[in-house]
Amino acid sequence: MKVLVASPLPGDALHQLAQHHDVVMLSEATHDGALAAARAHPDASAFLSLLTVRVDGALLAEMPSLQVVSNFAVGVDNIDLDAARARNVCVCNTPDVLTDATADLAFSLMLACARRVVEADGFLRAGRWRSFSPSLLLGRDVARATLGIVGFGRIGRALAARASGFSMRVLYTATREHAHPFATRVSLQELLSESDYVSLHCPLTPETRGMIDAAALARMKPTAVLINTARGAIVDEDALADALHRSALGGAGIDVFRDEPRVSERLLSAPNTVLTPHIGSASLQSRAAMAARAVEGILDVLAGRAPRFRVA
Ligand code: DGY
Repeated sequence: MKVLVASPLPGDALHQLAQHHDVVMLSEATHDGALAAARAHPDASAFLSLLTVRVDGALLAEMPSLQVVSNFAVGVDNIDLDAARARNVCVCNTPDVLTDATADLAFSLMLACARRVVEADGFLRAGRWRSFSPSLLLGRDVARATLGIVGFGRIGRALAARASGFSMRVLYTATREHAHPFATRVSLQELLSESDYVSLHCPLTPETRGMIDAAALARMKPTAVLINTARGAIVDEDALADALHRSALGGAGIDVFRDEPRVSERLLSAPNTVLTPHIGSASLQSRAAMAARAVEGILDVLAGRAPRFRVA
């Protein structure tokens, strides 16, 4: 059967897919690229999508034989799940295998902001270092500070596990209470005002879109650091840049942006900010495992088996 694939992937999963099916690679992993491929191959039975491709009703309508969309991501906010359900198209994702890599990146952004690692690197490379100085590039401790985790799913809990090694006090918000040995569930308001570090780990939904707005940022301590490895649109980026420029916030470590790959000038020029290009899951092992999981979903559905990681 014919399978459209949004992009080459790490590991050998696509090789395995090609042994069973006819693989057609998109020329670009965008909505337009997918539309063009779908029009050229209306008989496609499966689509291995990326989060850069908006999978909407118009795209699905171009592929009447489509059985499955398998997203190379755990987040599926790029897919219109209702439109997929309406067309009886199964949607799969790639959970678990990127949990540690994403929690690692969130924690490293936290450390990088707290200890001004990127700024210190730039200082040294610019030839500005004259000698050891007791007050040069002072940062803040992570150990024993309070970490607020917004969204306590797999990645949020993996971040909490890392925080325990730093003796941090851990607060979280979640739609339900988790029996957790040391993390305490609180309201978002309490989490924002109590935390030294706030890390976002909720999916992008109509409820979470713009959740961290000017009012939410104003609740945070002026020394607090915001970490976002979830989805850019959860944060009002203009309000964030404004808070950083006014020193109303201590810093930000941001891996995901509202209009990727565009990042606003205001955010690029904001102080105490570490910005990375959506690399939360970008370890070789995680990305290869995600590819294997995305391919597994397609192989299962096309063989008439129930896929393990079905979201719609
Ligand atoms: C996801 O899986 O949703 C990430 O954003 C990419 O790995």
